[in-house]
Amino acid sequence: MESQFYFPATKDKKTRYEEFITRYAGLIQNEKDEISVMANTAAALREAFDFFWVGFYRVTSPEELSLGPFQGDIACYRIKKGRGVCGTAWKEARTLIVPDVNAFPGHIACSAASKSEIVVPVIYNKVIKGVLDIDSKEPDHFDETDRKNLETVVRLMSETLYT
Ligand code: SME
Repeated sequence: MESQFYFPATKDKKTRYEEFITRYAGLIQNEKDEISVMANTAAALREAFDFFWVGFYRVTSPEELSLGPFQGDIACYRIKKGRGVCGTAWKEARTLIVPDVNAFPGHIACSAASKSEIVVPVIYNKVIKGVLDIDSKEPDHFDETDRKNLETVVRLMSETLYT
């Protein structure tokens, strides 16, 4: 049986995200466990878009992120606020698109294969709970379509988990 998060590669990215978001809203409905929902979010995103690395870093102290549920190669456990792409997105409370990770000052290289990255903060009631981090083996992989739709995914997840 094909996964409900399999989308034919022939469809354009915007359509794939639209279909993803409809199915994703159903997937996370009624589940309140943060680790469980983050785990299925990472798995669904990887299945649908074949991302090289997709996962979460969670705010576990006022100054530090800890590795959360993810799909992909092993990754560093902790990232300080303001460090790397993840720590910067947390500190600045905004989505960061990095077309060339080697040109980002302080980028933390968990895998040499990663060439570009997008990090979306998970925010609820102006409090940052963590970040969604996605890496690609292709340079300049992420654009405004990714930003808009991944921000929607993260907002749906926050509304389900924290309300
Ligand atoms: N590159 C990230 C670190 C996490 S890994 O990509 C999984 C960063 O600079 O924050």
